[in-house]
Amino acid sequence: TAKINDQNHLEIGGCDVVDLVKKFGTSLYIVDEQTLRTSARQYRDAFRKYYPGQSQVIYASKAWCCMAIASILATEEIGFDVVSGGELYTTTKALEMSNLGQEYIQDKIYLHGNNKSIAELELAIDSQCKIMVDNWLELENLAKLSAQKQTPVSILVRLTPGIECHTHEYIRTGSIDSKFGFDANQLEGVFTFAKEQEFINCIGLHAHIGSQIFELQPHHDLAGVLADWYKKALDYGLPMAELNVGGGLGIRYTESDDPPSIEQWVETVCKSVVKACQERDIPLPKLISEPGRSMVGSSTVTAYTVGGRKVIPDVRTYISVDGGMSDNPRPITYQSLYEVVIANKMTSPNTETVTVAGKHCESGDILVKNVALPETKEGDILVVLATGAYNYSMASNYNRLARPAAVLVNEGEANLIIRRETYDDLVKQDLLPSRLV
Ligand code: LLP
Repeated sequence: TAKINDQNHLEIGGCDVVDLVKKFGTSLYIVDEQTLRTSARQYRDAFRKYYPGQSQVIYASKAWCCMAIASILATEEIGFDVVSGGELYTTTKALEMSNLGQEYIQDKIYLHGNNKSIAELELAIDSQCKIMVDNWLELENLAKLSAQKQTPVSILVRLTPGIECHTHEYIRTGSIDSKFGFDANQLEGVFTFAKEQEFINCIGLHAHIGSQIFELQPHHDLAGVLADWYKKALDYGLPMAELNVGGGLGIRYTESDDPPSIEQWVETVCKSVVKACQERDIPLPKLISEPGRSMVGSSTVTAYTVGGRKVIPDVRTYISVDGGMSDNPRPITYQSLYEVVIANKMTSPNTETVTVAGKHCESGDILVKNVALPETKEGDILVVLATGAYNYSMASNYNRLARPAAVLVNEGEANLIIRRETYDDLVKQDLLPSRLV
């Protein structure tokens, strides 16, 4: 729901971005509620359309975990993949505040992570969410803890599927050389052990192949690998009921990106799982998927104020903005590309090529290289598109920049959902030894 209004300004969710910036300052994440809800509904409805069995979409909270997003997605019946005590705490708190209680948590929250602490495992057991078990140490700890607490715990076993896909190597997770999950040669031992534990119910399997993936074939192949192991786990007598195929669908960051639609992705996943189960003559499991990026990525933009300019004749023109790698670490981390617009000059022709630099003390702190833009001057509002995923969630206070605010827009209404940090917030955790005071 973005458009250009009569003043030639960018308008999102019925709110003029220039007005939003006046009110909330920059850098500012602007979340369009309708776009967020649309992706949630597309996922949910496509599973209902293409999967004849039960299904549940769970949001990979790591993409952006905050209470407002959790609470909005919960109203769309989306569950949650959380990967730390902090994500579990944030999400359960949001659900409690939205009056979605224990039942939602037990049914729709899953704890991930390759090195969960004892405290995190205890928090998970106590909250009775489901746990994706990643390795032997964790499985043994869970067996002990659940027995001590005399509390049953439902687990899904994460396996390394050995499937390659084309994406940045830092965000590939399914290949054999991965820190995540059990290797194929460990699985039968895991099934035997799990079966013997009084308080462990091994109800499913999980695998995830990577992120920002545009191909559908790896997701198809994954269904076969998972179904093979699912059948084996059934043969071991485990109470298998769920199959989690991970997330990974890429989104469009720039014009050259051409990802499949959510519906196409879901169709592939569902048809592949149905076919794989039929071929092996096993009952259809409850099908879980855990999209992160494709759920929130396109819902959000980041607005910055343009500052100074440096022209290096015949080399490059830099324009600087008031944020950068602290609010969007993806370009410096993964060489990710983004599209930008000038929110107060939406219909002005592009007249120059500039490189948009952040304000951090690092040469690599570049948001976008060599982009054609209208002539900009100090005070213009530069907007980077599609920043909903892995931006705020990976934001830092590098150079002691305060983390930006986030505002939710919908039908002309703007609600602050994350406060801008203050200088006091920055020193809140700092202490001085008493002899220095
Ligand atoms: N499930 C598991 C087990 C995962 O590890 C991930 C992402 C997801 C689901 C969600 O994947 P998605 O649908 O978002 O592709 N920081 C990187 C992305 C790291 C992805 C980590 N795992 C980036 O900014 O590109």
